[in-house]
Amino acid sequence: MPLNYKSLIKGSYFPPGDKSISHRILILAGQAIGRSKIYNLLESEDVINTLKAMRLLGGNIVRKDKNYEVFGIAPGGLFQPKTKIDFGNSGTGIRLICGLISSNNIEAKLVGDNSLSKRPMKRVTQHLSRIGAKIELRKKSFPPISLKGIGNAVPLTFEILIPSAQIKSAIMLSALNTNGTIKIKEFKTTRDHTENMLKSMGYNIKVKENSVHRYIEMRNNKDLKTIDYKVPGDPSSAAFFISAACLKPGSKLVVKNMLFNKTRVGFIKTLIKMGGDIKIISKRKIHNEYIADLKIHQKRNLKSTILEPEDIPLQVDEIPILSVVASFANGLTVFKGLKELTVKESNRLLLIHKNLKKIGVKSLIKNYDLYIYGNYNLKKGGGIINHNDDHRIVMSFFIANMICKKNNVIKDKSCVKTSYPTFFKHISQFSN
Ligand code: S3P
Repeated sequence: MPLNYKSLIKGSYFPPGDKSISHRILILAGQAIGRSKIYNLLESEDVINTLKAMRLLGGNIVRKDKNYEVFGIAPGGLFQPKTKIDFGNSGTGIRLICGLISSNNIEAKLVGDNSLSKRPMKRVTQHLSRIGAKIELRKKSFPPISLKGIGNAVPLTFEILIPSAQIKSAIMLSALNTNGTIKIKEFKTTRDHTENMLKSMGYNIKVKENSVHRYIEMRNNKDLKTIDYKVPGDPSSAAFFISAACLKPGSKLVVKNMLFNKTRVGFIKTLIKMGGDIKIISKRKIHNEYIADLKIHQKRNLKSTILEPEDIPLQVDEIPILSVVASFANGLTVFKGLKELTVKESNRLLLIHKNLKKIGVKSLIKNYDLYIYGNYNLKKGGGIINHNDDHRIVMSFFIANMICKKNNVIKDKSCVKTSYPTFFKHISQFSN
């Protein structure tokens, strides 16, 4: 699967199922009594770990002809898991299921791989302790999480000060088995799939937004209805191919059936601002989520841009690939306020900076702001990429081969299975 400066990205492309939505539909369908059906579930390692977790907690989930049937159990009825629950690399999985369990009268131990075992959990558990759950963390911060849920959780008002959909969703899932009204105030830039899915499943949830905040109110007086859900394509996965198509003049890509939720497509806005030719050719709404087809036709070189801290949550997972794009855009690009990137699957801020240097691009970090000195010259390449098994770093710097004279060395690329197991298959299909 060669990819180098001669490559063009061409053809019609269906991105794999959205990861955030795949986690959530498994969990919420698992809390709806009766049979739900899921089509196009992302079968990546992270999502499969959530699936296994839901099985351990009593959900009956069956794979049938590439699709899934979920027979859920009522909120509050989670089974006592017989073993510890392993979430592998997945921050979303461990945090969301921690929230779900916290209001059930069971005990569980939630564990993860090396990377997950270094990620902060207190941001979630500090809220869940308030409802009455008993939680212990390694060094008061990290997994394993030892959790004793509470069957009669206290309904509270929460204010979340870090823009994080995972924190919010953990609290929302705890609310499924909490009697009374739960209120949440958070930043409106975080992804709102949990809210949208709950609405589609007939739950009693109200959501309001002003220019900065989102206000959520939930009451568990209406059951979750079963649902047939076709998971749309993942914009965070499509971002690699869309960015690649924007890099190379002459590329022509049609992206089909991609999730177009405004909290997820900040990178599309950024690429357009940088001069990318991206057209949205159809937009529709299914189960409260927008879905679109896109056409990318590269005709001109890109220019640099500036992202403010409030823009970051809207493209938090796309900063690594946008950094590669910025290297090939004329001028100084600044991504401001990247603190959250330091606590992702790796310290992404540091790895982006280090690897840009390895491929021959000048960048610097100042107070969590990243400065990238871009120009429209091929980079020297040939660097040994330092990825710490972070899937998005591997995929971003694989795409970087397109702007390098010499291919970079990426040892052990297997971590792409975390979010995008078909990445290299798609590379050979859409690069010419
Ligand atoms: C996710 C939320 C984001 C994102 C992650 C998936 C989700 O994390 O980075 O890949 O599905 O809720 P935070 O909410 O912690 O920013």
